[in-house]
Amino acid sequence: MTDIADIRFVPNDHDGLEKTAGLIAVFVGTDGQLSSAAQKLDATTHKAVSRAAQDTAFDKAEPGHVVRLNYAAGTAADAVLVVKAPADPDAVTARKIGAALAKAQGSDALTVLAGDIGNAENIALGLALRGYRFTDHKTDKGKPQGPITVQSDDPEALASAARVGMAIAEGIFFTRDLTNAPGNVLTTDDFAARLAGMQELGLEVEILEEADLEKLGMRALLAVGQGSAAPSKVVVMQWNGGGDEAPFALVGKGVTFDTGGISIKPGAGMEDMTMDMGGAGVVSGVMRTLALRKAKANVVGLVGLVENMPDGKAYKPGDVITSMKGDTIEVINTDAEGRMVLADVLWYAQDRFAPTGMINLATLTGAMLVALGNENAGVFSNSDELAGAFLDACASEGEGAWRMPMGKAYDKLIDSPIADMKNTGGRYAGSITAAQFLGRFVKDDTPWCHLDIAGTASVKSETALSPKGATGWGVMALNRLIADRYES
Ligand code: BES
Ligand code: MN
Ligand code: ZN
Repeated sequence: MTDIADIRFVPNDHDGLEKTAGLIAVFVGTDGQLSSAAQKLDATTHKAVSRAAQDTAFDKAEPGHVVRLNYAAGTAADAVLVVKAPADPDAVTARKIGAALAKAQGSDALTVLAGDIGNAENIALGLALRGYRFTDHKTDKGKPQGPITVQSDDPEALASAARVGMAIAEGIFFTRDLTNAPGNVLTTDDFAARLAGMQELGLEVEILEEADLEKLGMRALLAVGQGSAAPSKVVVMQWNGGGDEAPFALVGKGVTFDTGGISIKPGAGMEDMTMDMGGAGVVSGVMRTLALRKAKANVVGLVGLVENMPDGKAYKPGDVITSMKGDTIEVINTDAEGRMVLADVLWYAQDRFAPTGMINLATLTGAMLVALGNENAGVFSNSDELAGAFLDACASEGEGAWRMPMGKAYDKLIDSPIADMKNTGGRYAGSITAAQFLGRFVKDDTPWCHLDIAGTASVKSETALSPKGATGWGVMALNRLIADRYES
């Protein structure tokens, strides 16, 4: 797994700054007020920081704006980074400040004079998240993010507050590594092996192989994988940190590569479909975070792992397939494969665990990108209560999400003349008809959300907290939802 930056929390040491090499970061309030640590800098440097803070551009800038003062007097550092930050930033702002610092830091050692600034644990989380680099397949891996030392008024309290953040960062890095991995590397076998590796964290991990899935009647999922040399699998990860109540279920689409199958995709951009396991990646990252922070909740994560290939054995348009639920599906387009996979895993999750609620994540439709772009995931739900709670969690974690409609009229669009339903609903409202399809595999009494993350799982330009590529969108919000709903 990609390593997280080495971050240490130590007491303030103003006298030691003289010998501090690398970079030193000091905070200046949104009112232009220098932090107490900044005031203890060498007098000349203190003056320079004050002048930087009085600059009108600095005054107008957002929190996280960084001004670099090279070769500042009174330290061995290459530069002092003057960082705009409110005295008590909220968590989302604090992470952005940390992320901006990580960008300015590069591979240099960084000493952050945090003093008594609020939410320093989230500044540390932002530093870790934006330091991510995916170099698994570079022969020259470049220099990693430099080490970070955070000087604080209360380093013990800060270190303990930051521990949860590091569990979150590790979950997100796990998700990003999975989502960024090429299709020839992250095969269904490799994916399952990475998940089995999480048993050492106390997760119970079960791998259902094709013969098991056959016995369970998961023909919809198996149909998608039958054209591939890679064996289809379902992996079940259980974290039982709560009491003896039924678990909350997370379900992920894990298409390790989506060629479209017989309804093959155009060549241009097809390589992007290595991220089509992004939903399963997020489920896996959340389970890792829950285990690392020893969450006091029962959560089960299930991922359907398949590869969608054209082949002599592949499923075809016109085929009729019986799902585990028993409902029959007329295949119109083999590229609408994610819903086939999820239909069976959703049904299995309810059949086996009778969960108190269920959220699935999937890079399900290109139409989601058309509707919401890269800023928001679509939220489809049969429960205003669960959807509301999830949207609240997204808002407090700064992850974009937008509720989308569902309804009977949309549902009719996937009726089939020859089977119980067809797997596509025509040109319009493609993300909604996909959600209606999934909804047919959700029991009336299971509160459920479907998150279409086609636009948010992986992006072409950097975001506040990640370089371009996989974002890990959703790990923070789902972790928050579980904490708020089951642990408080
Ligand atoms: N994996 C794709 C959706 C996708 C597209 C994800 C772009 C991320 C970026 C999905 O399996 C797919 O191919 N969906 C089809 C559905 C259609 C055939 C009804 C689509 O969106 O075109
Ligand atoms: Mn597809
Ligand atoms: Zn797909």
